[in-house]
Amino acid sequence: MNFVLLFFISITCFFFLVQSQFNETNSLNFTKGMKTIASSFLDEDEGFLYFLDERDKNGLMYLWKYDMYTLDILNYTDIGITYARYGAIDTVNKLLYVATHYGYQFVKIDLNTMQIIDQIALNDAINNYGVKVEIDLVNQKAYVGYQTPMIVKVDLASFAQESSLTLSNFMLIGSVIDVDNGILYASTDTISGNNATIYKIDLSTFTEVDSLLVNLSGVGKLKCGVIDNTNQMMYFGTYQWPMNIVKINLTDFTSVGSVGTSDGGDCYGAGIDVTNGLGYFLNIYGYLYKLDLATFTIADVLDLNVSMSYTMVIDSSVENSYIGLEYAGVYQVSLPSLTVANRSNSIVYTKPEFILIDEPNQIGYAFFSNSGGILAKVDFESFTLVGYLMMGVYGSDIYQGAIDTTNGFIYLFFDTGNLSIIKIRLSNFSLDGNVAADPDLSGDYITFEQSKQIFYFEYSNKTDHYQYLAKISSPDFQIIASLLLTDMNVYTMDFDFLHGFLYLFYYNYSASGSKKFISKIQASTLSIVGQADLTQYKFEYPVLDQTHQLIYFGHGDEYSYLLICRVNLVNMQVMNDCMNMSLSHFYASFITSSDSWLFLVVDYLNSTSSQYEGVLLQIEASSNQLISNKTINCDLFRSYVYSHDSQTNYGYLLDYYTSETTFYQFSFPPAIPTPPSSSQQILFSFLIFGIMILILGLF
Ligand SMILES: *[C@@H]1O[C@H](CO)[C@@H](O)[C@H](O)[C@H]1NC(C)=O
Ligand SMILES: *[C@@H]1O[C@H](CO)[C@@H](O)[C@H](O)[C@H]1NC(C)=O
Ligand SMILES: *[C@@H]1O[C@H](CO)[C@@H](O)[C@H](O)[C@H]1NC(C)=O
Ligand SMILES: *[C@@H]1O[C@H](CO)[C@@H](O)[C@H](O)[C@H]1NC(C)=O
Ligand SMILES: *[C@@H]1O[C@H](CO)[C@@H](O)[C@H](O)[C@H]1NC(C)=O
Ligand SMILES: *[C@@H]1O[C@H](CO)[C@@H](O)[C@H](O)[C@H]1NC(C)=O
Ligand SMILES: *[C@@H]1O[C@H](CO)[C@@H](O)[C@H](O)[C@H]1NC(C)=O
Ligand SMILES: *[C@@H]1O[C@H](CO)[C@@H](O)[C@H](O)[C@H]1NC(C)=O
Ligand SMILES: *[C@@H]1O[C@H](CO)[C@@H](O)[C@H](O)[C@H]1NC(C)=O
Ligand SMILES: *[C@@H]1O[C@H](CO)[C@@H](O)[C@H](O)[C@H]1NC(C)=O
Ligand SMILES: *[C@@H]1O[C@H](CO)[C@@H](O)[C@H](O)[C@H]1NC(C)=O
Ligand SMILES: *[C@@H]1O[C@H](CO)[C@@H](O)[C@H](O)[C@H]1NC(C)=O
Repeated sequence: MNFVLLFFISITCFFFLVQSQFNETNSLNFTKGMKTIASSFLDEDEGFLYFLDERDKNGLMYLWKYDMYTLDILNYTDIGITYARYGAIDTVNKLLYVATHYGYQFVKIDLNTMQIIDQIALNDAINNYGVKVEIDLVNQKAYVGYQTPMIVKVDLASFAQESSLTLSNFMLIGSVIDVDNGILYASTDTISGNNATIYKIDLSTFTEVDSLLVNLSGVGKLKCGVIDNTNQMMYFGTYQWPMNIVKINLTDFTSVGSVGTSDGGDCYGAGIDVTNGLGYFLNIYGYLYKLDLATFTIADVLDLNVSMSYTMVIDSSVENSYIGLEYAGVYQVSLPSLTVANRSNSIVYTKPEFILIDEPNQIGYAFFSNSGGILAKVDFESFTLVGYLMMGVYGSDIYQGAIDTTNGFIYLFFDTGNLSIIKIRLSNFSLDGNVAADPDLSGDYITFEQSKQIFYFEYSNKTDHYQYLAKISSPDFQIIASLLLTDMNVYTMDFDFLHGFLYLFYYNYSASGSKKFISKIQASTLSIVGQADLTQYKFEYPVLDQTHQLIYFGHGDEYSYLLICRVNLVNMQVMNDCMNMSLSHFYASFITSSDSWLFLVVDYLNSTSSQYEGVLLQIEASSNQLISNKTINCDLFRSYVYSHDSQTNYGYLLDYYTSETTFYQFSFPPAIPTPPSSSQQILFSFLIFGIMILILGLF
């Protein structure tokens, strides 16, 4: 009997040992795609477009390489510098020169490798306004404008500063280089911004040879400059609301006049088509103005209907302009018709919605509803992003997904009036068409039982306006059975695959006072077999623990307390062992679970530091006790999604925090087995005892 005793002691120890913490095993930073495109460069020979993109609030820069014909992303890389604002391209040697606004660096980037190959320190910040890096490829010089109006000359061959030229007034605003005539024009302004001076600089001597005072009252800073060499005219789009376009006669270096625009303001890009006598000026609100150079009048305007447009390049054949936008990516606009030819798929991984796990192949699919919807594919072995699929126009309406690893499909559900389903084939990670669902359906909650190939849909019928729960067969999406949900305003649904029960969380508004319930439904028969009344609880994030047949929910008041309570699903009774999380002033809480663990993500006010702190709490499901926690970056409006891989016992958390989305992999102690019932224990003891006797008998 001592052996049996020893055995039970070791089992007890085992239960203590598994109570160790969870650990972050891997993390993957999703590039959040283009955000603020600071400048754009065109290599027409190769058909490439390059964009400098300020990726986050810390000014980290990405360099994107695009196919200019299809606007497809070819490559992108973190160039390792911050606040890179302006630059110039050398398409002969495939080099890009970039100056940073802060950090005062001037760098040389090899466009073949997209890596910085040389860099020198500048003495001052370049300006935040116009194009401040001009390049003279013939003589291999670059001119970099500082914000204090000064221009430094850099020799590109030795990559060293050669000399500098100080201008007057307050700030350097814009510049244009006329390589053919060896002239650089630079505009500066006064603090009031009402007095601009254009300096004419002879590049051979790097000296100021002339200056022109432009009486700018009400016109604005001379920002985006272009030169019409044929007619010896120069034009500046102004930094002003609304934008004006100023014309300068270069023959006698005089101001000819200005023309106003009507919508939006602040010039962010300019280009000229001398052959057709047209100029193009883009303002920050995405209005592209076409200027008739001969008559100096606005000929046309295109409203891109975007929030911010920051940069534009025009190809020399003047078929297209390429406009870099904030968040939305890149537009290709056909010229001179001013029609949008194409739009890039800017990959912005921001609004995480759900994670689907292909457990047999160890691949995760994370769905983001921004940018028209993106499904990102992550290889769990290497924990790297291995692909993505853009969903197109309906993507932002996709709200749920299901994976069928048996048949190799992902189903994405969206509802733009009629419920529709997008089918994705996993073998080649491509769209496999749409499945049209019943137009009567307006889908809400969906869950998939892979072993039975059945979807459970909670939906509203648009004809009779009732809510139903239906069993729908896969892959033909036919309703097999449905249950009318009388007086149930369902807000979420969960499925206990182990025991074959569905749980619906709903409000009953027709009851006197609004009532809140959990209903237990037998999946095989679609019949209601029980319910629990949660009306007296304040809020809830219900989480199902299939192993222990429990539902956890939060109960509390965000200013004072948070309790984690549970419902025993066998008898549908709320248990009286709520755990007090000792948290006050918490926000954006979110609970998710695996079979053995519960997670609670909380932003709460740390009373010691008076700071909001984000924390991921791990709660042991069987005991309802806090096991460990992990501090995460805090933000009051963060969003998360979580999924658990039951095969490997890894947890996956997608966390969108300010501008970054991070995908975490967590390892957990082995799942805690369900404590055996006492009758099982006795049976088990006899079994073990028998084995022991048998083993002893062998000796
Ligand atoms: C992800 O970003 C965070 C914060 O920006 C950084 O600390 C971490 O090292 C990055 N991780 C990877 C794998 O790049
Ligand atoms: C737009 O880009 C797609 C590829 O992204 C290309 O197939 C299509 O021809 C382009 N359309 C136009 C009008 O350039
Ligand atoms: C992007 O370019 C870098 C440098 O050449 C290369 O290492 C990387 O594999 C490229 N990435 C893609 C997706 O082509
Ligand atoms: C503009 O410049 C002229 C000449 O330097 C000067 O007389 C005038 O006061 C300036 N006006 C403003 C508003 O700065
Ligand atoms: C500048 O222009 C304003 C209005 O156009 C005019 O009143 C003012 O006299 C001009 N100033 C100079 C110095 O030309
Ligand atoms: C530009 O200046 C030249 C020289 O003064 C003059 O002949 C020409 O007419 C001017 N052009 C315009 C459009 O003002
Ligand atoms: C402009 O965009 C908004 C939202 O992005 C959209 O609702 C509106 O219909 C668009 N307007 C036009 C004219 O395309
Ligand atoms: C929904 O489907 C019906 C029938 O196919 C169709 O008439 C209706 O236009 C669709 N509604 C939307 C919003 O797509
Ligand atoms: C929706 O309600 C109408 C009217 O009661 C009924 O004919 C139809 O079959 C229902 N459709 C579904 C999918 O429940
Ligand atoms: C609260 O803030 C204090 C001071 O910054 C810190 O030492 C402590 O660890 C924080 N408390 C918790 C529970 O994170
Ligand atoms: C997190 O864990 C640490 C150490 O285990 C503990 O001091 C701290 O109070 C915990 N924080 C919360 C919010 O529970
Ligand atoms: C997590 O890390 C701790 C300390 O290194 C270790 O004791 C524990 O076993 C780890 N847990 C898992 C599940 O890897």
